[in-house]
Amino acid sequence: KFDIFRNDRSFSSSIGIPKISEKIVKTNSSWPTGNGERQHFDEMVSFRKKEAKSSVVIQVGNPSKSHTLLNKVCSRHGDVKNLFHYTHQDKELLLLELDSEASVKNLLASCSHNNNYKVIPVISPFLWLKATPSESYTAVSSRLPPVIKENISVMDNLLELLSNAKSISEQMTILNDQTRLSEIGHRLRWITCIQIEHMLSGLFPSLQVLPFGSFVNGSARNGCDLDMAISLDGHYGAEIAAPQSPLIFQAKAAVENHRLQTQKHLEIFADLIQNYAIGCSQIQRIMRARVPIIKFHHEFTGIDCDISMSLSGVFMSELLYLYDKIDWRFCPLVTAVRQWAAWAKLTSVTPGNQITNFTLTLMVVFFLQRCTPAILPTLGEMTKMARPQVDTRQAEDINCSFLRDPFVFQLRSKSNSESPEDLFMGFLRFVGSFDFSERSISIITGDSHRKFDSKPLYVQNPLERELNVSRNVTLTELTRLVMEARNALYILETQEDQNTGNNWGLLALPRAKSLQQIKQEMSHSNQVKLNIKDLFCDDYEEEIDDFTETRLSE
Ligand code: CTP
Ligand code: MG
Repeated sequence: KFDIFRNDRSFSSSIGIPKISEKIVKTNSSWPTGNGERQHFDEMVSFRKKEAKSSVVIQVGNPSKSHTLLNKVCSRHGDVKNLFHYTHQDKELLLLELDSEASVKNLLASCSHNNNYKVIPVISPFLWLKATPSESYTAVSSRLPPVIKENISVMDNLLELLSNAKSISEQMTILNDQTRLSEIGHRLRWITCIQIEHMLSGLFPSLQVLPFGSFVNGSARNGCDLDMAISLDGHYGAEIAAPQSPLIFQAKAAVENHRLQTQKHLEIFADLIQNYAIGCSQIQRIMRARVPIIKFHHEFTGIDCDISMSLSGVFMSELLYLYDKIDWRFCPLVTAVRQWAAWAKLTSVTPGNQITNFTLTLMVVFFLQRCTPAILPTLGEMTKMARPQVDTRQAEDINCSFLRDPFVFQLRSKSNSESPEDLFMGFLRFVGSFDFSERSISIITGDSHRKFDSKPLYVQNPLERELNVSRNVTLTELTRLVMEARNALYILETQEDQNTGNNWGLLALPRAKSLQQIKQEMSHSNQVKLNIKDLFCDDYEEEIDDFTETRLSE
């Protein structure tokens, strides 16, 4: 047996604010993140999943001392394509990508549990390397990629870059590039999806864990949460081919009420995760929300995770992913808007009565649809152009069919030559002057309609059309949003000389006036959502239909 032991609960660490300091060792080809390309969402998901299935995370005592031993142990199973080093809560961890899924299977087959009688013998991609003299092993094939230690103090560097930029547009691009979720951040999230998928696929072999939310829609930032949706049959909305065989599985009948069945599945999955998923702690079951979810924290990656069984979020993310591919200005604009909102404390890491990043993103889409010429297409246009079969998707009675090729719209968006700076100012102007009291926002038509309910802010959920994604926003918060937008626009328009002093352009927007204070504010806003005391309020406090409520209380 080799000296890589599977991690188990006896090694769980204390809980605190996770700080992942990352030293990228070497990044071989990974999924290209640029826009303007014709990369399909489904292809990106398959690529990343394959990469994650070829990877393991190994906890080591001392990365430089473990190097030789690790090289000898791993080289027996295949070549190491990529090696990342990160630290989390005093743990030294290495993420290794081997050359294939088969190599990882072989590697895992060679591992043992440290103490067979005292731990639950779960198999997962999270391992630890026991210190053993490396002389006992001989290397079989190539060496590990070299460890390049890179000290990334993003914040200092970022503020300096922002203050030295030549224009607000350049600042927006820098902010977007520098705060983008790192490669290791991506890989750790994908490997978490694979961990859950592996665990549940014993029961449901076709099951798929599909990430959604900012992590996959192009606006992923360091510290972002991981939203996952489970599809039991793995079809996730695509048309199912006619059965090849007349043989049908005998099956138990599902509970008639779909919501109740979802809650049952999630309760069982929560038990499994709590008892058997290595590293997953602080499990919360939010079953009475409109979309029931399980929440947990991952101790080996520092990531906060949500699991639901609703696929509409996956298609929503695919739509935002497409918008990112259609026009290069979309993502820098979203990032600037999110950062401005965080500085102005308009958004919060805990759910409440404030506007969310998701609602802000839909408002940005709406604004870009209404520019002249339009930069982004409306969902209505994209739905009309959906190709039969290729683009047809149906999730829980929701039509999620829309053209999944950004190319047509990429050409069109080029006819608008406004700079990111113009667009940011334009967005602030739009928010500062829109008639929120009477009008709603819809990215389906790119038009504002009379409001359908009495909530202060109405932003239509484009896929679940009867829902208002901003129903949690109070009048006080909406008023603050409008006032802050006007204030920010005033600051940007009245700046005298952009290049005198440090705090110009975007850096003039935070309340804090010294770079040190801005740095502190930005570090806070990048903290992951650990505080879950308010979970049952607002965002999650959606209508529970009477029937279900009665059943639940029974
Ligand atoms: N979502 C939705 N309707 C809502 C809230 C969320 O459809 N009322 C979907 C969206 O696809 C959203 C995803 O759920 O992107 C995840 O929600 P959330 O984590 O709140 O937002 P993110 O876009 O992931 O942003 P953040 O970086 O703040 O996590
Ligand atoms: Mg999210």
